[in-house]
Amino acid sequence: MLDEALREIRRRKWERIVVFTGAGVSADSGVPTFRGAGGLWRDFRAEDLATPDAFARDPALVWEWYEWRRELVRNAQPNAAHRAIASLDRALVVTQNVDALHARAGSRNIIELHGSLFRVRCRREHTTRDADEPFATIPPRCECGALLRPDVVWFGEMLPEGALETAAHAIRSADLLLVIGTSGVVYPAAGLVGLHRGLSIEINPEPSTACNYSIAAKAAEATPKIVEALQ
Ligand code: OAD
Repeated sequence: MLDEALREIRRRKWERIVVFTGAGVSADSGVPTFRGAGGLWRDFRAEDLATPDAFARDPALVWEWYEWRRELVRNAQPNAAHRAIASLDRALVVTQNVDALHARAGSRNIIELHGSLFRVRCRREHTTRDADEPFATIPPRCECGALLRPDVVWFGEMLPEGALETAAHAIRSADLLLVIGTSGVVYPAAGLVGLHRGLSIEINPEPSTACNYSIAAKAAEATPKIVEALQ
């Protein structure tokens, strides 16, 4: 399937490229995915850690889990897939990931559908700010005294304003869509793939979306080859 996809890519020039990614693109950096073997949702219950109710019940528990993930990602490095995507400077990256590894690899044009582990939001003022370093006290608080929460989307919450609409518009009008490392089960993000009408290529050891080409391979192996054919 990889060779067929490479042949198809080389047949013409692709102008409007969207790269849609999920946790699998960071798996080769050692960041656990959510589902499947070793997935976070095998060991942790989402409703205890990634919902507004969980945070209201026990903010320290939720923050301990986020501090663990932030530390893990801080110590991880972007892999060959992130770097290849970043070299495609005409592409828009639409990611479900909160790990900021696309930005660290050098991608500039990114829509973070589910927020970022490295931003926090004041629960009272709703202002957001970057927060790269570990917090001295858990749960962290804003200067106003209210609790800070991770600026990520939890189950039952809306996506950041405008993010879904902008991503949907870009995917609808893209001539090439690369879908990398997502199980495609969490909506509304998962619904974006179905909006695309051009050529679509999925890279995933266990392909799960309805793309024209499904390459059953790890992101770090196949993505650089696909990107090279696009240069
Ligand atoms: P999942 O954990 O659901 O799926 C990860 C996908 O990556 C699976 O399809 C794996 O087969 C694939 N995969 C594993 N290793 C890979 C590799 N080396 N290269 C390429 N693919 C690989 O992650 P997402 O689809 O991103 O939501 O999950 C969607 C959302 O569910 C997340 O954004 C998060 C989670 O709950 C929120 O936090 C709101």
